[in-house]
Amino acid sequence: MDQDARRSAPATQRNRDPILDVLRPLLPETGIALEVASGTGEHVIHFARAFPFLRWQPSDPTPDARASIAAWTEANGLMNVLSPLDLDAAAEAWPIARADAVLCINMIHISPWEATEGLMRGAGRLLSAGQPLYLYGPYRRAGHPLAPSNAAFDADLKHRDPRWGLRELDDVTALAEAAGLAFEAVIEMPANNLSVIYRKR
Ligand SMILES: C[S@@+](CC[C@H](N)C(=O)[O-])C[C@H]1O[C@@H](n2cnc3c(N)ncnc32)[C@H](O)[C@@H]1O
Repeated sequence: MDQDARRSAPATQRNRDPILDVLRPLLPETGIALEVASGTGEHVIHFARAFPFLRWQPSDPTPDARASIAAWTEANGLMNVLSPLDLDAAAEAWPIARADAVLCINMIHISPWEATEGLMRGAGRLLSAGQPLYLYGPYRRAGHPLAPSNAAFDADLKHRDPRWGLRELDDVTALAEAAGLAFEAVIEMPANNLSVIYRKR
């Protein structure tokens, strides 16, 4: 694998440890953790080092992202990261049948709403009772004024693609509940982001 395929997203260096702090008590020690929308792959290799007995399944619908994920995995010699899957969250069928945890970081606001609908359907299908779906990103929240930085980010996203933008957390939770995923917790994270945890009923 060509190591030059490795791409880098500076935000991953800033948010990976705060995210890991939330994941440590949340994820099972063994089994398969599916990451939807892995992007560069920098998160999955960081998490795979911290959870050496979990098998990590990265995915992304973008070929460049999958090349980057594979290159980071190889460069770090990680045996517990599987080859990245071509997984479009919005698709009816996913190329994986089960998982013991599902993670999705910074996709929901940078994709059409259909991707979130598909994410919830897929996580509801793959997970068994008690297993977690972990989300990270910026959201709109009833009773919480939008931070100016998030309002600017939302305007920029909508300018780039009118189908994108910060979602109402209640709308996301309604989809999760409809897919059999019970809301468990929301945790405030640095830079006005949230960790959101659901569990399969
Ligand atoms: C802002 S990046 C986040 C990547 C990574 N999770 C991170 O935090 O650095 C958004 C990612 O969502 C992926 N994406 C967009 N639409 C998607 C969809 N329908 N299904 C799965 N992934 C999607 C993109 O390919 C991109 O890698």
